Amino acid sequence: MSFEEKLVKALEALGAKDEASVRALFVEVRDALESEKRTLLSTPAANDADRMERAKALRDRWLSRRNGLLAQVDEHWLKPASRELKPVVGLEFNQLRQLAKGLEVEELIKSVAVDSRSAVVGRDPNDPEGLGAGKGKGPTQAAEAIGFDPTLPGNRRPLGSIHPITRVQREIEEIFLTLGFWIESGPEIESVYYNFDALNIPESHPARDDWDTFYIDSQTVLRTHTSPVQIHAMEKYGAPLHIIIPGKCYRRDNPDATHYPMFHQIEGMAIDQDVTFADLKGTLDFFAKRFFGDQTRTSFHPSFFPFTEPSGEVAVSCPICDGQGCRTCKQSGWIEVMGCGMVHPEVLRRGGIDPDRYSGWAFGLGVERYAMMKYGIHDIQLFYQGDLRFLEQF
Ligand code: PHE
Repeated sequence: MSFEEKLVKALEALGAKDEASVRALFVEVRDALESEKRTLLSTPAANDADRMERAKALRDRWLSRRNGLLAQVDEHWLKPASRELKPVVGLEFNQLRQLAKGLEVEELIKSVAVDSRSAVVGRDPNDPEGLGAGKGKGPTQAAEAIGFDPTLPGNRRPLGSIHPITRVQREIEEIFLTLGFWIESGPEIESVYYNFDALNIPESHPARDDWDTFYIDSQTVLRTHTSPVQIHAMEKYGAPLHIIIPGKCYRRDNPDATHYPMFHQIEGMAIDQDVTFADLKGTLDFFAKRFFGDQTRTSFHPSFFPFTEPSGEVAVSCPICDGQGCRTCKQSGWIEVMGCGMVHPEVLRRGGIDPDRYSGWAFGLGVERYAMMKYGIHDIQLFYQGDLRFLEQF
């Protein structure tokens, strides 16, 4: 008895009295469905119209509401099933229905595309480009049969782009590299000694509050700035020293438009004989003009950091309004862009460098702020949300 003949008989008449025999019947039906679908996909068609017609016929044979094969299963097996067998028949019928969705014409077209792609992978050595597809040659024959055109462009895999923070970081690095600085790095998980003590911030010093951070244990923190690498570098290389130190830093800040508990800094440090504050000003003025444009002016204000003396803040004339006053510079015409100063003699000493022979300067800047200014971004959190609509703009 063919499976089609079975479909018009009641389960009882087929001797299906338990779950196992019901399942066996459904296996037979599903196998038939799969095999008819395979046949359709692998049989050459004369043309598009012919192929479409056959796909529709197969679909209707199984899915037609009134007399499709599934309707018959419903009519003769499911509806009249005994109370004990109903659950298993229902379950099996659902699976069959899921499988039969693959016979909808759009689904068939999708399977055609998948099948033909694998057909093209096994290329004919005499036709490596697969251009002869459909001329009855080798493995590309199947592709032709189902109307796949191997000369069409493939599916594009989107390539990532460089994150705006990385982009700006590299741009800043580039400027200092041309001045003869080199790039140094250090650990993000740092000892309290390097993050604070060696930088002249003893435990009792109120400045520790400015750099409150995540403690891993009482002696280990996520570094709050890139400054501890000043000490590592002095210990490693001695003087003279001209380095920049890009890297991630952490602070116990609540996220808002300009704060985030993780951010990026670039530290700069120059140590040599007779280095003065004039060198610091000249270098940072050159840097600001390179980064923000030649018209940029810099302004230095006194400030305080325990590891520099004297210390300063650098502001640049607002690159948006050229110092006229706008929303970005809060009408002041100036934007603060970094902290800096002459390296404190005690810090040089901690780094193993004799402050009577050498002097140096250092600065630290926040990369996020530069990227926000450069691209007109008003919320720091956009950098870390991984939203493609944002990232694709860079
Ligand atoms: N480390 C300081 C900060 O995080 C910045 C700085 C670096 C200041 C070097 C002076 C010299 O705010």
